[in-house]
Amino acid sequence: MISHSISELLSNNAILPEVEIKGWVRTFRANRFIALNDGSTINNIQCVVDFENTDEATLKRITTGASVHIKGELVESQGKGQNVEIVVSSIKILGDSDPETFPIQPKKHSFEFLRENAHLRTRTNTFSAVMRLRSALSFAIHKYFNENGFYYMHTPVITGNDAEGAGEMFRVSSLDAKNPPLKEDGNVDFSKDFFGKETNLTVSGQLEAETYAMSLGKVYTFGPTFRAENSNTSRHLAEFWMIEPEVAFMDLAGNMDLAEDFMKFILKYILDNNREDLEFLEKRLLDEEKTKPQAERSGMSLIEKLNFVIDNNFKRVSYTEAIDILRNSTPNKKKKFKYIIKEWGSDLQSEHERFLVEKHFKCPVILFDYPANIKAFYMRLNEDGKTVRAMDILFPGIGEIVGGSQREERLDVLKEKMAALDIDESELWWYLDLRKYGTAVHSGFGLGFERLVMFATGMGNIRDVIPFPRTPQNAEF
Ligand code: 4AD
Ligand code: MG
Repeated sequence: MISHSISELLSNNAILPEVEIKGWVRTFRANRFIALNDGSTINNIQCVVDFENTDEATLKRITTGASVHIKGELVESQGKGQNVEIVVSSIKILGDSDPETFPIQPKKHSFEFLRENAHLRTRTNTFSAVMRLRSALSFAIHKYFNENGFYYMHTPVITGNDAEGAGEMFRVSSLDAKNPPLKEDGNVDFSKDFFGKETNLTVSGQLEAETYAMSLGKVYTFGPTFRAENSNTSRHLAEFWMIEPEVAFMDLAGNMDLAEDFMKFILKYILDNNREDLEFLEKRLLDEEKTKPQAERSGMSLIEKLNFVIDNNFKRVSYTEAIDILRNSTPNKKKKFKYIIKEWGSDLQSEHERFLVEKHFKCPVILFDYPANIKAFYMRLNEDGKTVRAMDILFPGIGEIVGGSQREERLDVLKEKMAALDIDESELWWYLDLRKYGTAVHSGFGLGFERLVMFATGMGNIRDVIPFPRTPQNAEF
């Protein structure tokens, strides 16, 4: 007898005399009907127990959360709601679950409660669907790059540089925190630390990825990144996953084309391959929307939203145009924005990004050519001397989902920029070398993986799309 997955049995529709499955009991009704799930699909399989020939003690142990091993016959279902079901010939309880204390009861739980039980929350339909989609999206990402001639590169997690220059890093040290070695001036002596210098968890693999782009041509990274920014929002994590392609001989226009094609491919992949999970999440979202005031409802269902992104061109708008639109917008004039846009040069907040995407253009937007002084040091300076070849992709409901740029490939301009920002050349000597030996136009971007998963699943809080979220004051599990 072969062990089956529930997904196989349900999609098979064949009638089989002998099947064997293992899974967790979702519900047990009328001492007769087990709804069993094994994680292979959002759907449960119904297993019909012959309660007259099953001993009382076993029946008592079939509780929500228990793991069981079932053998039986796959037959056409007599009841509604499923095509096939299993008539149980033998059931073995593998692991009991106390119904009094098992946190995941067969009822609606709040996402806050489930976050506190993140080790068990994938026993629910919503979280199992979200995490299956997370897995499918990451597969689709590798598939896209693999099919398009990119090499997958593993960049270091521990680094000595601050790639984004924002100073929001977690220190990595093996020094005694209570009694660190000190230099004569009273500062900590990091030359005595494990690596002989100050190190931190990476905020981005980009700078290292640039070294490989300048030899292998087209590369990408997909790994964890860490930011010690104290933003307790529904879109920020202290530990998140980022995808960073980097391509030699590609300019900003090529970078935008790549990002758009890539985003469309991965969203289409899940529409083609993960329909049932998407349909479940779409329904969940519709129910949630019904509880919101009309003005806050999105007007599009989840699957419509995904199709909309795939079928429409992303609108490309310069920062300067965007500032004009925002300055003349109703919420700016009526002081409805928390941060009023007064002049060219102001940084955009998520309220402005969402206005542009959701109210003004009503489609994904690529903003480009930002003021140099609100962007990172490595972005290529434009001929105007005040803007850089940056691009951010803004998505409805999310705001910034991608950040990228054409990189400064001119040694003298890059050195000047670093000097102006007080970035030590000796720390990035190898990065400068790329500009000395065969420098070339090159570009890349970073896609925040969890923001993508939020968009693809319709989940409203980034803490609910990563297995064990790390946020300020929280590193449980
Ligand atoms: O815009 P960012 O900071 O760009 C970079 O790190 C570049 N080095 C990327 C590159 O050009 N190779 O971050 C890129 C994306 C953002 O657009 C956002 O989606 C996500 O990473 N992101 C976060 N996601 C969750 N939590 C945070 N704290 C995030 N910070 C950035
Ligand atoms: Mg950014």
